[in-house]
Amino acid sequence: MDLQEYTDQLFGGEEPQLARMREEAEQEGLPAIQVPVEVGRLLQLLIVQTRATKVLEIGTLFGYSSIVMGRVLPAGGKIISLEVNSKHQALAQKNISSAGLSQKIEIRLGNALDSLQKLEGQEFDFIFIDADKDTYPQYLQWALKLSHEGSMIAADNVWRHGAVAEPPDDDQAAVGIATFNKELASNPRLLATIVPARNCTDAVALATVKRS
Ligand code: SAH
Ligand code: DHB
Ligand code: MG
Repeated sequence: MDLQEYTDQLFGGEEPQLARMREEAEQEGLPAIQVPVEVGRLLQLLIVQTRATKVLEIGTLFGYSSIVMGRVLPAGGKIISLEVNSKHQALAQKNISSAGLSQKIEIRLGNALDSLQKLEGQEFDFIFIDADKDTYPQYLQWALKLSHEGSMIAADNVWRHGAVAEPPDDDQAAVGIATFNKELASNPRLLATIVPARNCTDAVALATVKRS
């Protein structure tokens, strides 16, 4: 058994309801790019530890990570999740409703950059970036704008299966993530790191907005 499998089993693995949603999404032809079990658990741990009540997610897909995060939000907590694809949004809406989380999770349909503009002035305790990779640098700027001291910023796929270390010029996704990582690492307002995931084939970036 590999160590990833060992660890997932140790902590109970994937919830049956989430596994069913994943299988249905796959049958519907959606890409199976939701967070893996251990990244979901990491997001939960960080939301609980930061006592987050206002969460922003960029990239909903079929609602998998939204539901995982929604499960640990306290009463009155709220997730706003941004999604551009209406088929993804519809399936996510259905899944969120079956999970009993409609009160806590709101999906905003549209290009994330447009939706972010409409959120200007709001502050989020926890921001999870997981949409189009070439736009990650702009999402980081928005995350900084929509956060406060002590907020946490998390981003999925920051190793991009290895392509970020020497991103080929024609790989816009890898170039975007490499730029994002550089800016995250060097921003004096942030304390940040990269945590390997998915058996070290990819990674999650984590940053906290420092208290000054
Ligand atoms: N966070 C999800 C996975 C997100 S996959 C989970 O772990 O369960 C990335 C999603 O971002 C896809 O559904 C895709 O349609 C969406 N996306 C891509 N570009 C976008 C954009 N510009 N604005 C909003 N959503 C976008
Ligand atoms: C892929 C994985 C992701 O988690 C994601 O958000 C986008 C793409 C991928 O493996 O291609
Ligand atoms: Mg991802």
